[in-house]
Amino acid sequence: MVTVHDVARHAGVSIATVSRALNDRERISSATRDRVLEIARSLGYQPNDLARSLAGMATQTIALLLPDITNPFFPELVKGVQTIADERGHLLLLCHNADDGAKARADIAMLRRKKVDGILLVAGTLKGRGIAGATSDLPTVVLDRRVPGLRSDVVTVDHRAGARKAVEHLLELGHRRIAHITGPPGISSSKERQAGWEEALRATGIEPDKELVVQGDFLEDGGYAGGRALIQRKVDFTAAFAANDMSAIGLLKALTEEGRQVPNDVSVVGFDGIHLAAYTAPALTTVAQPIFDLGRRAAELLLDRLAAAEPDKEPHTVVLETKLVVRGSTSQRR
Ligand code: RIB
Repeated sequence: MVTVHDVARHAGVSIATVSRALNDRERISSATRDRVLEIARSLGYQPNDLARSLAGMATQTIALLLPDITNPFFPELVKGVQTIADERGHLLLLCHNADDGAKARADIAMLRRKKVDGILLVAGTLKGRGIAGATSDLPTVVLDRRVPGLRSDVVTVDHRAGARKAVEHLLELGHRRIAHITGPPGISSSKERQAGWEEALRATGIEPDKELVVQGDFLEDGGYAGGRALIQRKVDFTAAFAANDMSAIGLLKALTEEGRQVPNDVSVVGFDGIHLAAYTAPALTTVAQPIFDLGRRAAELLLDRLAAAEPDKEPHTVVLETKLVVRGSTSQRR
């Protein structure tokens, strides 16, 4: 294998000169740099990334940690991150932790040993202290959910305002008994969406009814079980806001099985804007997140910070806009 020593010997320069020719443009003449690079090419020299990482240099590798790769929200997010990683010549590693805090912390520890340059984190039901400690001095951008105690860049949407859009749409259609299927407890986006549901009702003089709230899990099974629980409670409702599209898809199945027509008997709104939401029957009205752009902006924020000669000490928070997409699952209250 050709080493940096072989290149230096053939070029008649020091190892340090070869390193400057390979890694930075300052402190070397363009003539020397071009000659060293030509000799490296002619010898078939491949920089040894492991050696570079051991020498404390960047490895051009970043990682994205996700809680649930079965949810179509995340592959769209990955596409946004991958686009920027490809443009900037970085390798992207994916870690799926199934909302398991211990696994996420173990993944972060391994990523640090592998000398990744930085991480993008969608935290599951992790507590801040676990993550804040695990990511200390590792460049980190938090996506989608806030992590208590972790001072880092954040790229997200305004979940509370998005949830208000969903409920205001139902209120404008004349609905007053609007149920809510929540996301999992302990996740900031769940709490913020439930708060948005409550705020929109109260702004119309309606006190949120706890009997109309069922806990979901951001998965279709939780939406299905939540729908069945609402029906078994025999409470009156003509609409429902589900904390994400996968929960809404499970709810559609439960309502249909119980003979409730959507939207004639019950109007349903989701949250995310996954591609699948356009293909349910009826197609799902939802609050769409700019999922691809969330991933793209987070990757840009991380790589810009890594490239900066003097990284800005202050963390940045980027909040992108959601958009209500009205489809066949909502209609005027009958
Ligand atoms: O965990 C899945 C959910 O988290 C997605 O549906 C999206 O809403 C994100 O907040």
